[in-house]
Amino acid sequence: MNLIPATNYDEASKKAAEFIAVQIKGKSDSVLGLATGGSPVGIYERLVDAYRAGLDFSQVRTVNLDEYVGLASDHPQSYAYYMHTNLFRHINISLDNVHIPDGTDRNIQQQCASYDRLIGELGGIDLQLLGIGHNGHIGFNEPSTEFTKGTHCVDLTQTTIEANARYFERETDVPVKAYTMGILHIMQAKKVLMIACGSDKARILHRAFYGPVTPEVPASILQFHPNFTLIADNQALQYFNKNTLN
Ligand code: PGA
Repeated sequence: MNLIPATNYDEASKKAAEFIAVQIKGKSDSVLGLATGGSPVGIYERLVDAYRAGLDFSQVRTVNLDEYVGLASDHPQSYAYYMHTNLFRHINISLDNVHIPDGTDRNIQQQCASYDRLIGELGGIDLQLLGIGHNGHIGFNEPSTEFTKGTHCVDLTQTTIEANARYFERETDVPVKAYTMGILHIMQAKKVLMIACGSDKARILHRAFYGPVTPEVPASILQFHPNFTLIADNQALQYFNKNTLN
């Protein structure tokens, strides 16, 4: 693991955006795996700044990790809407090159198979950005008895529903299912970058990277990733002892 500590969320966002910008400058048609949630908002703000300062997204291709089942792309809480609002509409990316699971497709098998096919056709992911859920999920790969390889439809856990209720008017409005990229595509990404900030992420980060690799903590699989970088602030790293990390 490559650990990049930061003093706070702003610095972590800046470092993560620089990491992504270096990727794009090195390979203009990079396939970026993108994440949603609170953690990447600051990164996307910085990437918009980088675009205004000359970073070219015209060849960049993106695949998002996940989407709520039942929400159309114009629903304000859909991840498609999030991506357009926070990033895509502010940069020169081609909308033909952005990909997000279709939450309105009720044909689960078809949607999952077509997303897997798409990632294959893109040649896999060059750089996958991840947050981490309080229960250790990555994307919406929730704690389970096994790692699910391909894109699949998950029942969101109660802790995830509670964590995401802050974006909805009522907790009962939070969709209970989501499409998510599986663990295989995340692990096959050439580079993986995780951002984690705040003391509420400290325990799960420690469990994920000091504990056993287990599907009960999906992020723990990243211990096996050959090119994994964690950018985290001091609060999130409070239980880390750098000397004992691999
Ligand atoms: P957060 O979510 O960035 O909103 O904390 C992270 C995640 O659930 O993956």
